Amino acid sequence: MDETFEKVAAWCKPTMEHPLAIVLGSGLGSLGERVRVVRHIPYGDIDGFPTEAIPVEGHSFTVLVGELDGVPVVVYPGRVHMYQGYDALQVSSLVRHAHKLGCRSIVLSCATGAVGDIEPGTVGIITDQLNLTGRNPLASPLGVAAAGLDSPFVSMAGAYSPYLSGLAREAASELGMELAEGVYAGLLGPSYETPAEIRMLDALGADYVGMSTVCEAIMARALGMEVLGITLVTNKAGCLGESHAKVLGAADAAAEAMQALALATIRRIGA
Ligand code: 6GU
Repeated sequence: MDETFEKVAAWCKPTMEHPLAIVLGSGLGSLGERVRVVRHIPYGDIDGFPTEAIPVEGHSFTVLVGELDGVPVVVYPGRVHMYQGYDALQVSSLVRHAHKLGCRSIVLSCATGAVGDIEPGTVGIITDQLNLTGRNPLASPLGVAAAGLDSPFVSMAGAYSPYLSGLAREAASELGMELAEGVYAGLLGPSYETPAEIRMLDALGADYVGMSTVCEAIMARALGMEVLGITLVTNKAGCLGESHAKVLGAADAAAEAMQALALATIRRIGA
């Protein structure tokens, strides 16, 4: 390991004071059940999180603070999306909350469609992003203040941590699992892409397409956090007959591989 990597490794190592934040997307939901919870925090306590999005029933809007296989974690089992009408600041409120709790690294997980020839059911790491949502959490004085920035011009070079990605690769190889790598294109949604849009995304260098993650990653970088992006490719983008129900069904079917990778990676981050 060279010197910078050693520094990043030390920065990333979760402790009780600096736990690892994990945002669970489709496919990782049940990871929450493995957390040895020491504290529940209702999403209603998250500064800037839209309270009207919190259902009366269900547990995906409770933050889980505790340990996952011995690694100190703060788990966010649910998120809101900009396609629901929320703004970039609201969808990134989880990230600011995690940072306030001391988290220095964050795992952002999500379900995606494949732009190229990645097979549905494949798990992948996000190596870079195209923010095509037209939104940015730092594009407001509130966002800049919320991130505690003097300047909104945050660098997004190396936004997805090469160090954390390396640990995910090691975890995949330990599990004998195929691991895709690629660029995540974040779109506003909620409609799926047209064939012409898929050709555009392909030409732009996207490998995955989804409707979350990009604004969270920007906020995390603004706060100086290391970001790991992992995605479950649930379907081929642009295929006829795509439906939200099918996408969620596919996420459930391949969830086991996604969880195995996440757990093995988290153990390595904590090691
Ligand atoms: Cl095909 N497109 C988008 N935008 N998000 C997705 C998806 C497709 N599949 C899962 N999530």
